[in-house]
Amino acid sequence: MTDTPGATDRGRTAAVLTGLGAWLPPRRVPNSELCTRIDSSDQWIRERIGIAERRIAEPPVATGDMAVEAAARALASAGACGADALVLATNTPDRPCPATAPWVAHRLGLPAVAAFDVMAGCSGFLYACTVAAGLIAAGTAQRVLVVGAETMTSLVDPADRATAPIFGDGAGAAVLEAGPPHAEGALGPVVWGSDGSLSDAIAVPAGGARERHRRHLAAPEEHFVQMRGNEVFRHAVRRMSAAARQAAAAAGWGIGDVDRLIAHQANQRITATVADTLGIPAAHAPSNIAQVGNTAAASVPLLLAHAADQGELKPGHKVLLVAFGSGLAWAATTLVWPAGLSARLP
Ligand code: COA
Repeated sequence: MTDTPGATDRGRTAAVLTGLGAWLPPRRVPNSELCTRIDSSDQWIRERIGIAERRIAEPPVATGDMAVEAAARALASAGACGADALVLATNTPDRPCPATAPWVAHRLGLPAVAAFDVMAGCSGFLYACTVAAGLIAAGTAQRVLVVGAETMTSLVDPADRATAPIFGDGAGAAVLEAGPPHAEGALGPVVWGSDGSLSDAIAVPAGGARERHRRHLAAPEEHFVQMRGNEVFRHAVRRMSAAARQAAAAAGWGIGDVDRLIAHQANQRITATVADTLGIPAAHAPSNIAQVGNTAAASVPLLLAHAADQGELKPGHKVLLVAFGSGLAWAATTLVWPAGLSARLP
């Protein structure tokens, strides 16, 4: 057991990363196009958020379709054709009910596997990995497909300059398999947590059970995500820095041991501030936010796939992963980058 607060010890059987896949919808929306709808500028968005363009899934493509594409690539990357369970992290399920994961499993040709959604904001992928690692440690599953997929643009008011520049669509997926805890690719101890007292800092006010009595009275903007950006920024930096530091310590690493920081791509200034707070050089914190925006639960697996593809993650690298988002919810963990893992991208 570790004595790090909030850390979990998953016993002797670890979840080992054996496959990685990604998918992005082809439609690119540069800042210049966005700024025809909102009072902003390419320069402001690049300087304050770090985004140049984002991808948009065009109807009828939705979260489940992108999840299928990324998951199929992750299975191919692992050289596997099946899994015992599928966990889909998303804030934008195809429908309010049922969960999207069973449909994704069906489309992948994995009938009858356990499949369910996890909603934990932009930390969803790391939460889903933690759930998968628990299933593996308990012997309930040997191989789990973990997917992060989002159609964030379905939650964004295209006229809201506080959110429209930030979010994008996409999907990433990983295969986790049972293995020894000291294997390369084994997920380390997880540090995670939440603060529901700030549940309205990033929220969609309407459409849920709490507002059912005024379902037909809600204003159009209440069906879109509303965010207190400044406040979220401060909490993101504080929680991500603390969780990352604790996860490194729980793995027995000093911050100086960390070769790469894989941080949820919320805002380039958040990533830079977290790296700086931790004392990790900016060059050791790969980023793809300029090209894909903030893809919420898809952000961490997409960045892993892109960084692996670009040779940023090398075998033996000590990788610290951290995420933060609505809930509020945060999570961090570690892994040593495995040899022979080749991410599959479109
Ligand atoms: N374009 C141009 N100007 C904008 C703008 C936009 N899209 N949004 C805000 N501004 C202006 C404001 O009106 C304000 O102007 P003023 O100084 O003349 O009053 C100024 O920029 C600063 O506003 P502020 O809200 O303090 O901006 P900010 O620097 O905090 O940046 C965010 C806003 C949303 C980019 C930033 O707070 C952020 O990224 N927060 C975290 C969001 C996030 O990551 N959410 C997901 C978490 S997973």
